[in-house]
Amino acid sequence: MKVISPSILSADFTRLGEQLELLLSEGMEYVHVDVMDGHFVPNITIGPLVCDAVKRAVPTVKMDVHLMIEKPGEYIDVFAETGPEIIYVHVEAAHHLDRLVSQIQQKGIRAGVVLNPASPLSLLEHLLPVVDAVLVMSVNPGFGGQSFIPYCLDKIRRLDELRKAGKLSFVIAVDGGLTLENVSEISAAGANLMVAGSAVFHGNPGTNFRKLTEILNRTR
Ligand code: DX5
Ligand code: ZN
Repeated sequence: MKVISPSILSADFTRLGEQLELLLSEGMEYVHVDVMDGHFVPNITIGPLVCDAVKRAVPTVKMDVHLMIEKPGEYIDVFAETGPEIIYVHVEAAHHLDRLVSQIQQKGIRAGVVLNPASPLSLLEHLLPVVDAVLVMSVNPGFGGQSFIPYCLDKIRRLDELRKAGKLSFVIAVDGGLTLENVSEISAAGANLMVAGSAVFHGNPGTNFRKLTEILNRTR
């Protein structure tokens, strides 16, 4: 799988439904929703109400919900109700990551785990056979429009090697700083699902999404 998952963090919230329908007409399969609580990250954004609205606007699109919140275990049930395909929880926010992953999977939702740029892959060593997705943060979480941190590319490559060596099938997702210029390199490093916020929503989202997808298809 090679897909672009547009992050609505950079969308025009006064025209969210319209922008999502435009992206759907361009073949969008995934949509990324950034949930921030002002504690785990220094910003407050979206809650379950908006997840619910996104799902109702484009019901056929798979929603990947990125929880950047403290005590994520207390909110799995409420986000599960909004119909996501994947829920991602941060390694750094979880005291009992194995339990959280089970909690998500028991709801019939794919469980993703997220590493901040400075967090090592070794934190996930034992969980890799269990998780459905690993999201590599390539910016420090909290805001859209930041630059890709170059050392994260090596982390993606090493994660892909671990996946091959273990004959595992988890999705490798990458989030932050994706552009028309670096998307092919990120894909070649082993990423499957590439989150793009400002690269999609600044300008014409339909045209931007089409260009990114074309590059992805060429480098597949
Ligand atoms: C950052 C969020 C990202 C963000 C990416 O904390 O998790 O999903 O929307 O935005 P860009 O693509 O603009 O870096
Ligand atoms: Zn995100």
